[in-house]
Formats: sequence, structure tokens, C-alpha cells
Amino acid sequence: MKFFVDTADVEAIAELNELGMVDGVTTNPSLILKSGRDIVEVTREICAMVEGPVSAEVVALEAEAMIAEGRRLAKIADNIAIKVPLTWDGLKACRVLSGEGFMVNVTLCFSANQALLAAKAGATFISPFIGRLDDINLDGLELIADIRRIYDNYGFETQILAASVRSVNHMSQAALIGADVATAPPKVIKSMANHPLTDKGLDGFLKDWEKTGQKIL
Ligand code: E4P
Repeated sequence: MKFFVDTADVEAIAELNELGMVDGVTTNPSLILKSGRDIVEVTREICAMVEGPVSAEVVALEAEAMIAEGRRLAKIADNIAIKVPLTWDGLKACRVLSGEGFMVNVTLCFSANQALLAAKAGATFISPFIGRLDDINLDGLELIADIRRIYDNYGFETQILAASVRSVNHMSQAALIGADVATAPPKVIKSMANHPLTDKGLDGFLKDWEKTGQKIL
């Protein structure tokens, strides 16, 4: 499973990138707001740092305006994936922009039917939002599994990009189900390294090592 980082925080991306943990980046208008940066400036900086796709989201609601914004965002760098919402107009924009050779990430997906439409419209990525479904007592991971099954039934090449990831459990479950990509905040990716038995084991080893009186260097 590929790891995308869900942030517009350049320092956080750089730290994970050095460890080879970044296969791409996703941003959205809320993350741009949080960064306090200009969208073009910060996206350009991220694109220069990361080799993989960097999603930048349109904010227009009508297809023609979305297409114009998408073309503008795509000028930022070659690795831009244009993010459009899963509305009827968003699907129209997806069709046109993917036809022009751009990567398109169809976002705000909350049902298997929406994912089916996005694949038919030529989406490069479909972003089902796990956490926001869990928030309203639905099962976000079940949606990932349903989309995996549907795409595999018909050989759709659209990549399933598990989004709105809130926990390390979401990451491992998305990987088990077979999501192609998961995008998560830096904090979640770093938390994947944690295990209480690792800490306890390390503590025991270090105490015993001290008793040997030896040094490696
Ligand atoms: C994905 O591309 C979105 O930016 C993101 O995963 C949304 O996550 P949230 O529901 O935690 O805001």
C-alpha cells in the first residue's frame, strides 16, 4: 500500500520523506487554511520535494469552472493530481481533465455507487472518507472493502485512496482490505511505529546491558 501524507505542512512532509514514507501528498482547502500559506506557493514547494502525486483541490462548483481551476492547478508542477468533489459536475470535470492526461483524484466519496461513477469517469484515484463515515456510526472500512470488490469484479484501474484516516487501525485494515493508497496525517503515520511491548522489551534489554558493564563504542 502506498502512503500519502494528508497535510500541507512542509516540515512534516520533509521529515517523513527523508525516511521514504511519502509516496504522495493530499491537500484540501481546510489543510491549506491550516498551513497559513498561499495555495500555489505551498503546493509548488511540496511538489518539488515529493516525487509522487500531490493532490490540489478545486473549489468551483460548476464543471466548466472546475476544469479551468484544475488546468491552473496542474500548471504548478507535473506531479499534480487535480482533486474534484464527487458531484455530477465533479464527474464531468473528471472526465475532461483525465481525458487531457491529468491525474484526477475524486474526493468526498461516501458510497460504493459514487466510487463506481468515478471509475467510469476515468478517475486516477477515488477517495472514500473512512473517518467521516465512522463519525456518523457507519463503517468506513466496509466501504473500502465494497469498492475493492467492485473494482476487482470489473478490472477498473482507478486506485482506491483510503482517506479521512484517523487511526493506526484504519491504516492496517485498509492495507488488509487491499486499498492501493492510504492518506493519513503525519501523526498517524508516526504512531504506526509505537507498541508498548517494544518499549517494555527495549527497557529490559537496556537494563541488562548496563549490568554487563560493556560498551559497543
Ligand atoms: C483526503 O484527501 C482528505 O484531505 C482528508 O483525508 C480528509 O480527512 P478528515 O476527514 O480528517 O478531514
